[in-house]
Amino acid sequence: MNHFEFKDGELHAEDIAVAQIADEIGTPFYCYSTATLNRHYDVFCEAFSDIDAMVCYAMKANSNQAVLKTLADRGAGADVVSGGELLRALRVGIDPKKIMFSGVGKTISEIDMAIASQIFCFNIESENELALISARAVDAGMNAHVSFRINPDVDARTHAKISTGKKSDKFGIAYDRAEAIYRHAAGLPGIRISGIDMHIGSQIIDLEPFDQAFDRLASLVGRLRNAGHEISHVDLGGGLGVPYKNGDATPPEPHAYAEVVKRHVRGLGAKIVFEPGRMLVANAGIMVARVLYVKRAEGKTFVIVDAAMNDLIRPTLYEAWHEIQPVREPVAGGETMVADIVGPICESGDYLGKDRTMARVAEGDLVFVSSAGAYGAVQSSTYNTRPLIAETLVKGGEYAVIRERQTLDELIGLDHMPDWLEG
Ligand code: LLP
Repeated sequence: MNHFEFKDGELHAEDIAVAQIADEIGTPFYCYSTATLNRHYDVFCEAFSDIDAMVCYAMKANSNQAVLKTLADRGAGADVVSGGELLRALRVGIDPKKIMFSGVGKTISEIDMAIASQIFCFNIESENELALISARAVDAGMNAHVSFRINPDVDARTHAKISTGKKSDKFGIAYDRAEAIYRHAAGLPGIRISGIDMHIGSQIIDLEPFDQAFDRLASLVGRLRNAGHEISHVDLGGGLGVPYKNGDATPPEPHAYAEVVKRHVRGLGAKIVFEPGRMLVANAGIMVARVLYVKRAEGKTFVIVDAAMNDLIRPTLYEAWHEIQPVREPVAGGETMVADIVGPICESGDYLGKDRTMARVAEGDLVFVSSAGAYGAVQSSTYNTRPLIAETLVKGGEYAVIRERQTLDELIGLDHMPDWLEG
């Protein structure tokens, strides 16, 4: 359920006509809906209202500070994977006691920053990282709260590039090594063991892999406790998929996922931590673009728009499907066309959708790409010297630009001439 709907023949984000935003700020841009963000967050939390749960939003999905603050005001904590994300989370006022630090490659300065901020917990992914965190905590005269990300060796049955829970993946501590690393950590200075963690992948549309992984994790918790370790929280990661395409297998609803979770964790008496990203923000955002040209080629029509793979790379990188439609509501029985919707970038991989049957569009028309709130703006680049596009947030009948469109001067002004080319 989201708040992007056609009203009076025009796409609206809540109560604002998307075309009005386009007229005022130009295209392309991202547009997010506050009501949708709130709803998704509430639905997720409601599914866990009867257990001790903490939601740490995986802000890698969309780290705009206005989006982050919207969710934080609702009660969300943050799952961060870099010093930059940690800074954003702190800047919007998220309580460090609700911040989890994940990721396989934390640097010394990131570790120091997180220790100084007294975050809730580090999710540690290797022995070497453990040794470094211990040393830095001792230096700072502090204790670092840690849990270990365990790789349960489960196939999440999702796209290979976003599957993370097989032992061949770079993530986590091998399941069979878990007890040894906890034993080792218990003897290290500056380290306070507080939990356990897993994350098996993203856009998971089948509950079975979660079921298997939670089962393995819960039995490990029992063994670790028997060995005397304190496991006061269990972090189950993120990964719940969202619907992108009508007619595809529908991803499980949060309450169905919650049933599986509760079956495994109810008896543990631990705080359960979640790191949802995509399911909170994907369908709370669209990307809006304008048609530059309609080009008819040999047996094919290309709709060339002013947004490209640098603005939304998911179709190119993961063969992801995003619904694309005109902003003006198609009339029933109106003309349709079959086209590839492509950007101006000089690569054949630059497309937003291929072989799409859609209402006929003409040059100058606005189109929108659905479900673009997660892993959209955050994965954009300036390839082909294309400035980063604007982001907007709607709330009822109001909207705000929450990230300015980058100017060309800002973009190219970061280059520097070495002395030998000067003059
Ligand atoms: N926790 C950890 C440790 C993660 O690595 C991720 C996502 C999440 C939580 C959130 O997962 P979610 O609930 O969003 O599925 N760029 C890709 C997705 C990459 C996901 C990376 N990790 C895409 O556009 O599909």
